[in-house]
Amino acid sequence: MDNRPIGIFDSGVGGLTVFKEIRRLLPQENIIYFGDTARVPYGNKSPLVVQKYSLEIAKFLEMQNVKMIVIACNTASALALSTLRNEVRIPVIGVIEPGVRAAIKSAQNNSIAVIGTRATINSEAYQNRIKRLRSSINVIAIPCPLFVPIVEENLMNTKLADDALDMYLSKLKKTDIKSIILACTHYPLLKDKISSFFEGEINLVDSAYETAKEVNETLEARRITTEQDSSGKESFFVSDSPETFSSIAANFLSRPIDGKCVFHPWAEF
Ligand code: DGL
Repeated sequence: MDNRPIGIFDSGVGGLTVFKEIRRLLPQENIIYFGDTARVPYGNKSPLVVQKYSLEIAKFLEMQNVKMIVIACNTASALALSTLRNEVRIPVIGVIEPGVRAAIKSAQNNSIAVIGTRATINSEAYQNRIKRLRSSINVIAIPCPLFVPIVEENLMNTKLADDALDMYLSKLKKTDIKSIILACTHYPLLKDKISSFFEGEINLVDSAYETAKEVNETLEARRITTEQDSSGKESFFVSDSPETFSSIAANFLSRPIDGKCVFHPWAEF
């Protein structure tokens, strides 16, 4: 039994999709969330920069005495998971492995599409993981860089979003793809849009839910679940304005954040 908090981090607010699923599955756990809102986006940065930022945040979370680190950001999971596993002493979970396992399990044929930021797709982390688990699967990977600003600006129900969807995804309509991995924190908020674009004939794999299940399994396997039976505490740290974070967070969580949101300048890592 271990009442220390779970640490979750993301480049910004998008990782709250993962936070939300972990909170739903493990309501008694204490959680600390770090959003690197001053340095977002990670999706167009180089591997070395994303590794440096991720390591700084992981060390910060370790100092907050977390029992586990969850990399909610797909870009950071793709580029920095092994760096973090080498450098910190607590378990580190990324979002790629759980998403890939679920996609393979539910794949109705031998093709899977992956959509994500440019850095995630260029890293080939998803493509390699899928191939390693099932080499016969054909993977189509498409970077969709405009989806993040569309979600952050709450423009999901606009013509701009329709045009971006058409530009990035129409080529998939000409293939036999039946499963798409939403390999970015923000894309679950476009789920309905993507689903109607494919007229419901597509299985969308949301790694947030799969990652929450993996967190639960790891806590149980290592016997480090909390013994609290009351609701767990939530605290948030951000590297830019807590007010801006809190207001966008309410959209992601469909409720105000519960717990305090503290400014931690990245320059002080
Ligand atoms: N959190 C990032 C991801 O899941 C998206 C936003 C960014 O580019 O930083 O890849």
